[in-house]
Formats: sequence, structure tokens, C-alpha cells
Amino acid sequence: MCGIFGYVGNQDAVNVTLTGLKKLEYRGYDSAGIAGFNGVSGEVKYCKVVGKISRLEEELNKLDLHLNTAIAQTRWATHGKPNEVNAHPHFDTSGSLALVHNGIIENHDALRKMLVAKGCIFKSETDTEVVAQLIGSLYEGDFLAAVQHALPLLHGAYALVMIHKDYPQQIFAVASAAPLVVGIGEQEAFLSSDVMALKAVVKEVLHLANNEVAVVRADQVETFDASMAKIVKTRETVSSDAEEISKGDFEHYTIKEIFEQPKTLNAAIASRYNEDYGTATLDGLHMDVTELLNVQRILILACGTSWHAGFIGAYMLEDLARIPVQVEISSEYRYKNPIVLPGTYVIAMSQSGETADTIAAVEELKAKGAKILALCNVHGSTLTRLADGCLYLRAGPEIGVCSTKAFTSQVVVLFLFTLLMARMRHMGKAEGQALLQALKPLPDQVQQVLEEANRIQQLAKDYSHYDNFFFLGRRHMYPAALEGALKLKEISYINANGYPAGEMKHGPIALINEQCPTVALCANKAVYTKMLSNLMEVKARNGRILAVASSDVDGLKDIADDIIWVPETIDELAPIPTSVALQLFAYFVARERGCDIDQPRNLAKSVTVE
Ligand code: F6R
Repeated sequence: MCGIFGYVGNQDAVNVTLTGLKKLEYRGYDSAGIAGFNGVSGEVKYCKVVGKISRLEEELNKLDLHLNTAIAQTRWATHGKPNEVNAHPHFDTSGSLALVHNGIIENHDALRKMLVAKGCIFKSETDTEVVAQLIGSLYEGDFLAAVQHALPLLHGAYALVMIHKDYPQQIFAVASAAPLVVGIGEQEAFLSSDVMALKAVVKEVLHLANNEVAVVRADQVETFDASMAKIVKTRETVSSDAEEISKGDFEHYTIKEIFEQPKTLNAAIASRYNEDYGTATLDGLHMDVTELLNVQRILILACGTSWHAGFIGAYMLEDLARIPVQVEISSEYRYKNPIVLPGTYVIAMSQSGETADTIAAVEELKAKGAKILALCNVHGSTLTRLADGCLYLRAGPEIGVCSTKAFTSQVVVLFLFTLLMARMRHMGKAEGQALLQALKPLPDQVQQVLEEANRIQQLAKDYSHYDNFFFLGRRHMYPAALEGALKLKEISYINANGYPAGEMKHGPIALINEQCPTVALCANKAVYTKMLSNLMEVKARNGRILAVASSDVDGLKDIADDIIWVPETIDELAPIPTSVALQLFAYFVARERGCDIDQPRNLAKSVTVE
């Protein structure tokens, strides 16, 4: 949420910073801004705009601004509307200090009142300006001292990147519960909210954490703790797997990522199973056999789409491995006073590894002594560094704001984990081998769904005028229905309700009429006939039905108005082909309605505020 980028060195800092910032645009796109110095004179130059980074670029071209030290931000609005005044950078009253921020300062109101009483003149409604004014008001010629005095007064989460007119060739940075990475190059240095934006430009990085402060110059990076004692941080090598991030021949990242799924599923599965023993082989758990056998219950924590994948995993783990599982939404769980019984193993799931609520919940559970396994897509992210073990999704960078390929990889990795846990307990070899036989063709089955894209596009056209939808499913297909509904609402702005089909009669069926179609997820064999009965109830109320199914026993064709056929697989894996079909459906509906698919309104990819 909010992307920060900074640069000091001999290149044109405006170009370098804009290039970096564009890679962070998935973190927010309400407004963008840049501030910096050109040369050794300490006049802060800046430019801010409402909207996307392309708007900032247009403005900068008009200004013909050249800088060699710059800080920039792309904003996801929290405090204050997305207008130019609220856009970052923010300044102190004297205009000597410019600051960009990612996070939330919770006590901004009290600080603002105190600063106004001291004579500070505020321009914006933001919590960020409060920090700029606070540090500015504490500055008496030593910037680090001002930062040191300010930090204990700030409550909340923040990554701050600052410049001051008295230090024109330096950038100051602080992080607390928000990601910030320093990239170290040859006679140049960078700052970024995400190491991914640094991959093409540096080989070594430092991750700042827990009120650590960095003073970044082109030829030197110094790090300090909150008391401004110097600390030596280990430099990490940036992995060289920097993938080309482009849309290729696709119109949007989202559709490109949907189409990548045969490949990403193959990657998620590759080398992670042993057919002879009918089991999974998972490097990265960092648990020995005894520890894994001692797992008595599992707690899955996640948000949004990752939570839906975790929910599917819970059905698998309970059914196949016979381990009790609790699935929790991180933002709710973190404010419980959880009972963590001995033998509890925590699986924290996050595509980005930066979701603030999941990280806070994990920190709480770590403090209670629980072992944490991360299921994550982004190497080196905060979650992977906190967890005891990590299973990477291997889905490659997911740029479209709505999660697609990471979701299917999460389900597959949970399936493999389930297989491992089941085989270590009661499951026989033949049953394990049968599960692997079902898993292996899955990427090809997803390819078959993708080959139906044209027909799904036609259906999407036909359904795109409706403003309300139900998505119904049972068992594994209930979380898949939640996920199908989420995809539609977030990229097409249509009201879509995911619901367990059997619950409709307890109230929501009152909403069904000819204006409210139902997307029925029927590819789950164990409850197929129950689903049909539920659909008859919808049909009796004139609701139009679009079914996603893998077989037509018992007359589905007579009940549903339209059917998307998906290949047949076992119930545990059936949410994957179905979800891919629903991703395509949501994509084409959104396209039909002219929505901004890769960057839907009000959203950001990495939710680093609570
Ligand atoms: C929906 C979506 C979000 C994320 C959620 C958690 O398409 O992308 O619901 O799934 O914000 O994000 P991660 O998985 O990064 O923790």
C-alpha cells in the first residue's frame, strides 16, 4: 500500500525514480509525487499530481526537471482524499524537509494539535504531513537527532523516506512494520518498498526493520537503531531470477496471468512429489519428522483471496490428513486473544508476504511460541523472514491487482502439504499415488479451460448487464464461490455474493429474481445432487443460472440456462479448473463494462496498512 522509491547517484534521478516507481504502482495509484535536489544546492524541487504515474511523467516532462537525489511515492489514499494537496511528498512549514510515507500514523490527530499549537502550518489532511512537521519542528541542525526524537512519538506503521535541504546528497529512511529496502550500487544507492523494483539495478540490498534508520549516500549506506547507535546489517544478494515484467501480447497483466496458470501450476508441483512413495517432498518446511508428526491442529491465517485458498486447504487437511483445522481472517484474528494449544502449527498465507494484518497476527502467534509456515510468492518478503519455514508458490511476479495465478498455486501447494501430512499419518501408499495421479494432469486441465476463453467471453457479454450476482457452491466449492464472487466484484464493480448453496433458504434466497443471476459451482461430486436441489430452488424463483460443471448427470442441462464445462478431477482439486473459468468470466465482464482491470478503483495489491 503506497509505493516509495528513492535514488541518490550520478544518473538522472527523475528517470531512475520514475522507472522504479512504475514497478511499485501495484501498491496504489491515487496520486504520485517526487521531490529532490539538483546539485549541491539545497533547494527542494518537487512535483505532485492526482492519478497515475503516467500523469506525473507528463508533468515532469513539461517542467524539464533534472535531479540527482530524489524521493517519490505512488499513493493509496488512507487519510485525506486523493487530491494534489494530499499527494506525497509532504513538507515541514519551512519547506526544508520533504518526506514520503507508506503506512498509517495512528496518533496523527493528537500530534497535529500539538504541532499546530507550536505554530506549524498544515496544508493537507494527511497523517504523513504530521510526521514531516514533527521532524521539522524537532530539527536543530542535526537531522538524525530530530528523527531519533520523533520516532518514539509515532504510533503506527511506517516506512519513511526523507530529504532535507541541509543534506542535498543524502536520503534518510526509517522503517517500522512496513517494508523498506535499500539497494546498494556502484556510487549510487536506491530505496524501495519492494525488492522486486531493485532487481534490475542492484545486486545487494539491506532490509530495514524495527525502527532502523538508514542514511543513504551514493557511496555509503550507514544504518542505526532507534537510539542512533550504529548497527551493521547483513547485505543480502538480490536473486538473479529477475523476470521480465511485461504484458507481452496481452491487453492486461490480469489476463496474461490467468493464461500463465498451466505454467505456474507446473512450477508449483515440480520436484515436490515422489510417485514411488505416493507422497509429497517439500523443501522449506524446516521441521523434522518428529515435529511434523507432533502437529495436532493447524491454524490457517490469511486475507482475501489467500484466505479463500486457505479455506479450501482446510477441507483437504481435515478430510484427507484428519488434522483439525481452523481458518481465520488475519484482520479479525489479530484482535482476538487466541488460545494457542500445544501442537498448533500455523500456516500463514500471503501472495505478497507484506499484508499487515497477516504479519501482525503471525507476530502475535510467534510471541505465543507457535511454529509458523509461510505460503508465499515473493522471495525475501517480510512474512518469509518472520516464518520458521516457507513454501514458495513459484508463480512469478503477480502484477494485476486481483490475484489469479497465486490463488491456484496456493491451493496446489496446500494439496501437496496435505498429502505429506496424510501419508505421515494413516494414508496408504496407493491412496497417495491416486492423489498424485489426479494432480499431475491438472496444468493440462487448466489449459483446456483456457481454450474455452472465447465461449466464456460470449457468456460474459451476455451476463455483463446484471448488477447483482450470487455465486453458490458447497464443500470445497463454497470458498471457490467466495473467490469467484470476489473476482467479479473487485474488477467489474458488480455486487456479487458468494454463499454456501445450502444456506440460501435461510434468508438470501429472498434476493433471487430474474435480475439476479446465480453462478453455480457444480464440479464437486460429493454434493452434486444436493447442489442440483438448491438450483431448483433458485430456478423456481426465476433466477437465471450459469453453471460451471464437469458432468451432466441428473439433468443439470435442464436446470441451468448456461453451462461452462470444465475437466473432471477429484473434489479437492476441482476448485482449480472452476476458478480459472470464473477468473476468465470476471475478466471478460469487466472488459465489457470498460473497467480498469489491472488497477481497479480503490484497491492496491499489497495491503501494508491494517
Ligand atoms: C483479491 C486480492 C486480495 C488479496 C489480499 C491478500 O484478488 O488480491 O484479496 O488476496 O489482499 O493479499 P496477500 O495474499 O498478498 O496477503
